[in-house]
Amino acid sequence: MRIGPYKLDNTLFVAPMAGVTDRPFRMLCKRLGAGYAVSEMVTSKRELWDSLKTSRRADHVGETAPIAVQIAGVDPQEMADAARYNVQRGAQIIDINMGCPAKKVCKVWAGSALMQNEPLALAIVRAVVDACAALDVPVTLKMRTGWHAEHRNAVALALAAQEAGVAMVTVHGRTREQGYGGQAEHHTVAAVKAALHIPVVANGDINSAAQAREVLRTTGVDALMIGRAAQSRPWIFQEIAYELRHGVAPPPPHVLQVLEWLLEHLDDHYALYGEHVGMLSARKHIGWAVSALPGGRDFRDHMNRLTSSAAQVAALTVFLQKLAQHQLRWPALSTAPRAATAATGLVADPGVDHRSTDPYACTDAAEAVV
Ligand SMILES: Cc1cc2nc3c(=O)[nH]c(=O)nc-3n(C[C@H](O)[C@H](O)[C@H](O)COP(=O)(O)O)c2cc1C
Repeated sequence: MRIGPYKLDNTLFVAPMAGVTDRPFRMLCKRLGAGYAVSEMVTSKRELWDSLKTSRRADHVGETAPIAVQIAGVDPQEMADAARYNVQRGAQIIDINMGCPAKKVCKVWAGSALMQNEPLALAIVRAVVDACAALDVPVTLKMRTGWHAEHRNAVALALAAQEAGVAMVTVHGRTREQGYGGQAEHHTVAAVKAALHIPVVANGDINSAAQAREVLRTTGVDALMIGRAAQSRPWIFQEIAYELRHGVAPPPPHVLQVLEWLLEHLDDHYALYGEHVGMLSARKHIGWAVSALPGGRDFRDHMNRLTSSAAQVAALTVFLQKLAQHQLRWPALSTAPRAATAATGLVADPGVDHRSTDPYACTDAAEAVV
């Protein structure tokens, strides 16, 4: 599959997740089989571009191509400027966010709120496509199925975006009103795929090869995007790819192999954020990784009290080395706690309030430390 001039390694993508898919995490997912990764959203607000948070988000040092940056905002001119700014900083593909349900974003009509205002949404798409065409940079769009159940306008909006020159559309199979509740539905995604000739990507509640196969079968999409399931299992991309290719699940990775991946990730993470912020924000990644394991929750509580990166690394190493003496391999997918529950469609996730339909609530908490 291609996005503009860029040929992708495979069609399993990691979803943009603010507070999660920073450069170290995107690189980890790419190393572990993701064919494509999009940055966390970067605001179009010029006055915030020099903030530490935004400049970290626009830092692509060492990132493998194609480098895709997602921008969020409400003003067509500002969005065009933000696209140009990010291209100057290394972005090779610009993604427009029309999928975010966060209150702080939707209050100002950005993210998925734009789906309720099609003329404004299209003005933004046109302005960004025009700005990027001059730079030979493809533009993609990430959206939901609509605003609410009676207003599922993904097909109309995707068609208009295609007409305006967008190179790929990703659809999260929920309306804005649903937040992250209920189950993602992929009928609307299938309708978008049937209507468009550019690549279409399905997103929402894909956390196993069986689900991946089912979504591919029922929608005919060109690629799949995985978000929350990758937080604790960034190797899910290679697992799913293997099972889709061979028809059987691969054995789970060795515990010591996972330890090596996690330590590499932590190294990159501390290097990007520095000692104090890196140590605080690494807690969520370590917590996601270990909480499925025997003794994982106790370990996580202990780890959350450690106050240096060296102590985190040492504790994680000892914990996983001990585990490896009893258990060669990581627990299989079916026993991991991040499987979507039929009731909520949400996943067990340390630091996330599962009653909330707004997972950005957790993002804000995570971002408070960065
Ligand atoms: C913590 C968190 C942060 C997110 N941040 C973004 C974002 O910055 N931009 C975006 O388009 N979607 C964002 N999303 C939505 C995801 O990209 C994805 O559409 C959603 O999680 C559904 O996919 P999943 O069921 O595989 O997790 C975020 C989701 C989560 C859980």
